[in-house]
Amino acid sequence: MTATISSLLLDWYDAHARDLPWRSPPGGERPDPYRVWLSEVMLQQTTVAAVKPYFAKFTKSWSDVEALAAAPEAEVMAAWAGLGYYSRARNLVKCAAEVAAMGGFPETEAGLRKLPGVGDYTAAAIAAIAFGERAVVVDANVERVVARLFAIDEPLPGARKAIRMRADAITPDERAGDFAQAMMDLGSGICTARDAKCLLCPLSAKCEGRASGDPLRLPVKAPKKAKPRRTGTAFWIEHKGAVWLVKRPGKGMLGGMRALPDDGWSARGDGDGDAPVSGAWKGGGVVRHSFTHFDLELGVAVHAGKQPAPEGEGEWWPVERIDDAGLPTLFAKAAQLILADRD
Ligand code: ADE
Repeated sequence: MTATISSLLLDWYDAHARDLPWRSPPGGERPDPYRVWLSEVMLQQTTVAAVKPYFAKFTKSWSDVEALAAAPEAEVMAAWAGLGYYSRARNLVKCAAEVAAMGGFPETEAGLRKLPGVGDYTAAAIAAIAFGERAVVVDANVERVVARLFAIDEPLPGARKAIRMRADAITPDERAGDFAQAMMDLGSGICTARDAKCLLCPLSAKCEGRASGDPLRLPVKAPKKAKPRRTGTAFWIEHKGAVWLVKRPGKGMLGGMRALPDDGWSARGDGDGDAPVSGAWKGGGVVRHSFTHFDLELGVAVHAGKQPAPEGEGEWWPVERIDDAGLPTLFAKAAQLILADRD
C-alpha cells in the first residue's frame, strides 16, 4: 500500500515538530484549550516569534480563562500593546467572559465559531488541536502548501474554495490537530513563500507543484492594489515631567487603547481635527506606520506654550514611565521620536 499524504506528514511531524509553548508534543495529551485559544488569537496575522513573549506574559498574568475574564479590560489592552490588531484584544476580553460564564470552552468547531473574535480558521484550529475534532484548518501557510501540492493554478483569493476542498480531502480522521500543525510547520519551515526546500519535504514525491518544475510560482496571487496613504498629527503635550495621554474610543482604529491625542486621522482619512490645547506648537518629526488598509504618516506636534490645560478626558502620565503606558506601536514610535534626544 502506498503511504498517504497525511501519514507521510504525521511521520515527519513526529520527528520534526516545533516545540512551541502552547503545544503538546506530537501524539501526546491534548493541550489546554485556554492556551490553544489564546495562542491562535495572538497568531492571527502575527508571527510565532512576535507572539512568544506576549503568550508568556499573558499566561503568567492570567493562567486560565477565569483569571483573564476577571482582569480589568484596561490591563489586558495595555498588555496587548505592540501586538497590533487591537480588536483582537477587545474580543479576547469579551470571549473570556463568555467562556468563563459557560463553565469552559465549547468543544466543537460550530460552538467555538460563535465566540467573539473566533472566525472560521480559529474555530477549526482550536477544535482540531484542543479537542481532536476532524476540522479542516486552512491558514495562509496551509494555503500555500496545498496550492503547491496540487498545482492549483487559479489565483487567490478565488482559489480558496478549491484549496479548502483539497485540504479537506487530505485531513485524516485521527490526529487532525497534529496534522494541522504539521501543515503549518511545513509551510513555515520547508515550503515557504520564498523558498521550496523540496529535498527536505516529506511530501515531495506526491507534489504536483514540484513535478511541474516551478513550485515557487504557486500560489498564484491576484495583483495587489497599492495601499492608500493618510497623513495626520499627534500632539505631545508635556508639563512637569508628564505627558497628556487619552483613551481612544472603544470602536475604530486602535480602539480602547491609551494614546497621544491626535487630529482624528483615523476617522476622517486626512486628519483635520483640532488640537486639544491652543497655543504655540513646534514640529517634532514624523513617524510612518503601516496598517492593513493604509499607510500613515503621522507628524508629531510638540506643545510649546506654558501651563497647558488640555480639553477633554485624559491623564498626565510620567514621561519616565512611558514604556509602561501600553501605547500601541504607532504612538510608542511617536514617543520614542520625541524622547530620542533626551538622556
Ligand atoms: N500559526 C497559527 N497557529 C499556529 C500553531 N498552532 N502553530 C504554529 N503556527 C501557528
